[in-house]
Amino acid sequence: MKKHHVSFTVNGDDTDVLCEADQTLLDVLRDELHLTGTKEGCGTGDCGACSVMLNGRLVCACLVLAGELEGQAVETIEGMAHGQELHPLQTKFLEHAALQCGVCTPGILVAAKALLDRNPDPSETEVRYWLAGNLCRCTGYDKIVHAVLDAAAEMRGA
Ligand code: FES
Ligand code: FES
Repeated sequence: MKKHHVSFTVNGDDTDVLCEADQTLLDVLRDELHLTGTKEGCGTGDCGACSVMLNGRLVCACLVLAGELEGQAVETIEGMAHGQELHPLQTKFLEHAALQCGVCTPGILVAAKALLDRNPDPSETEVRYWLAGNLCRCTGYDKIVHAVLDAAAEMRGA
């Protein structure tokens, strides 16, 4: 199959890949760039496990064709911590034990960060609605929601 050359950035780094027409951003991240923090759950846009930021918008990487990435900016879970310093959301997820198997966790962290970037003081209801597209089979959601609210409070200095 003919391959297409695309140039884009991932977490601020210039990136070039040769991709096939049917490869998704999720395929390229995991299989070509070996950034396996972004998970595949459903592959059909239903679970949120593959959530990443594309030009500042939260998207499902399984629904983005890699061939459309030319000149675009992708941010993944690998870009969330600064070196050894975890993002407050990551720290609070650990403190609240807001993960079990962890498959949903990178997508939820990326989605939660997108929420707090636009709304630093969300209500519990707003957190639950925002994360409604991120499915978790393990935690029952309460610990996740409380971790996000706690991280938000810490980031506000409350
Ligand atoms: S793997 Fe993309 S939404 Fe489920
Ligand atoms: S921790 Fe297992 S799916 Fe969420």
